This record gives sequence, C-alpha cells and structure tokens, in this order.
Amino acid sequence: MSDIQVSPHANDFAACIRGVNLRAALCQTDAERIRALWLRYQVLYFPDQALTHHQLERFTETFGAYGHDPFVTAMSGHRHILEVRREPEEDVVPFGSSWHSDWSFQAAPPSATILHSKVIPPIGGGTHFADGIRALATLPVELRRAIHGRCAIHSARRPYSHAGYRAGGRRTSMKIVPSDDAWQTQSHPIIRAHPESGRDALWINPVYTIAIDDMDPSESADLLARLFQHMLQAEFIYKHCWEENMLVMWDNRSVMHCAQGGYAGHRRVMHRTTVAGTVPIRPEEFS
Ligand code: SIN
Repeated sequence: MSDIQVSPHANDFAACIRGVNLRAALCQTDAERIRALWLRYQVLYFPDQALTHHQLERFTETFGAYGHDPFVTAMSGHRHILEVRREPEEDVVPFGSSWHSDWSFQAAPPSATILHSKVIPPIGGGTHFADGIRALATLPVELRRAIHGRCAIHSARRPYSHAGYRAGGRRTSMKIVPSDDAWQTQSHPIIRAHPESGRDALWINPVYTIAIDDMDPSESADLLARLFQHMLQAEFIYKHCWEENMLVMWDNRSVMHCAQGGYAGHRRVMHRTTVAGTVPIRPEEFS
C-alpha cells in the first residue's frame, strides 16, 4: 500500500496526487483509494510518472473496460491509445480546444479520460476543466426550472462530419476520420446523476450538445447559451498546467474540458485513453 498524498485545489475540484508509482500494477487498496479520490475531486493529476504504453494501458484497465474512440485513428499496435499531437509548423487549432465532455454523443459515453504528457511546449498548451456539479448547485432558480426534467441532443456533427471537419482546418499529425456517422444523435438528461457517487451535474457541452430536446430551436439556442455562460464562470474552472510525464485522469460524467493553445512553433504530444461508461441517468433513476 502506498503513502498517497493528496493536495486538493479550490472548492475541492481537482487534486494533485503524489506518493504512488503508476509504473507498477496498483494493489487493490491503492486502486480503490485512487478511484475514491477521482470520484471526490473529479480531476486527478499525478506528476513524475514516466509511463510506457503498456503501463498507461494497465493503469487504464484498473478502472474498467476501454471506451470506444471513434473518428480518430489510434496508435499503431496500441488500439486504445490516441496520440494527441501538434507539430511546431501545424497551423490548426489544437485538438479538443473547444469545451466538451468526451464523446457525449455516444449512447454510453466514457466514464474517464486519461491523458499522459510526453512532450510539453515551454509556453501555453494547458488544459482547462469545468466543474458541472458546482455549476448545477449554483444554477439560478429560473434556469433550473427551465431545464427541469429535460433532455438535450448530442451529436458529433460539428467536429466530425465531413463538412464540419473541413471547416476546422487541416490537421496533419493526427489521423482524423470524418464520417456520416457523425450525424447520428443521442438524447441525454441535462441534469445527470453520477452513477457511482449519486452527485448531480449539469451535463451539456458546447461542442456536442446541439439542442434541447422538444424545444423551439431559437428558445433552445438561447437557453443553451445561458447555461454555457453559467457553467464557464471562472469560479468553476481549474486551469491545469502540464509538465512532461504527468498523468491526468478526469470524470467525464461531471466535467467538461478544453485544450489551450498559445504554443505555436512548439511540439505538444499527449497519449490518451478512455474508460467505458454507462448510459446517463436522471437524478430520480439513481439508486
Ligand atoms: C482532449 O480533448 O482530449 C485533449 C485535451 C488536451 O490535449 O489537453
């Protein structure tokens, strides 16, 4: 059993974890402790963890089966690791640089995303995280009333349809595979109960949430804009600064994230895995 040290950030959203070696297989006690910390702080980061592909895969498998990662070709020989890479000369916005929860357009989106840093630019290139639990807890009454019992429609069409991908610019160092599948939609509750902790979160995001179900389009666009404005207030955001060989693990069931730019002329390389999740449920469905 490791001597795990936890340093939480403001409002108990995100925590730095030291004292555990992720290069080795985790014993059950450490795995359970990390799982509990992840549920509590939603974003965990582990500095000084130089991992091989195999060690990253083993760490991921500790938390469940792999998620299904569409539209992006995985690393050769490692079908569950995506390489998030931007080269110094690449003139395109960073991958994941608009606020989103990973693959929220799936029927059962991933529970966790795990990102491991390989090459970090000397400036910029952070990742920001937004806390959907506090955003819901502080939502003004009239907005809460407006979304009560409602679902939102999620789709991958903006980044991953053929037209959407073309509009996003030419990405040369990652193999993105746009597809007509991106036009499919999924309806998910706007207020999502966390299936393990039971904590409720506001669970929509500007990239994949395209409308509120069963609502007039202009009313829906206006309501989504007001909800996003509320969710993206500075008090709900943790701004993560990377170092090389750092592993970050976040809870997609309550957190949005957004990759930052500001490192033109420098390389950035990250390795990413996801853990399979479950179909999102409403608060009244949690047991
Ligand atoms: C992502 O959205 O998965 C990438 C985040 C990052 O590169 O910081």
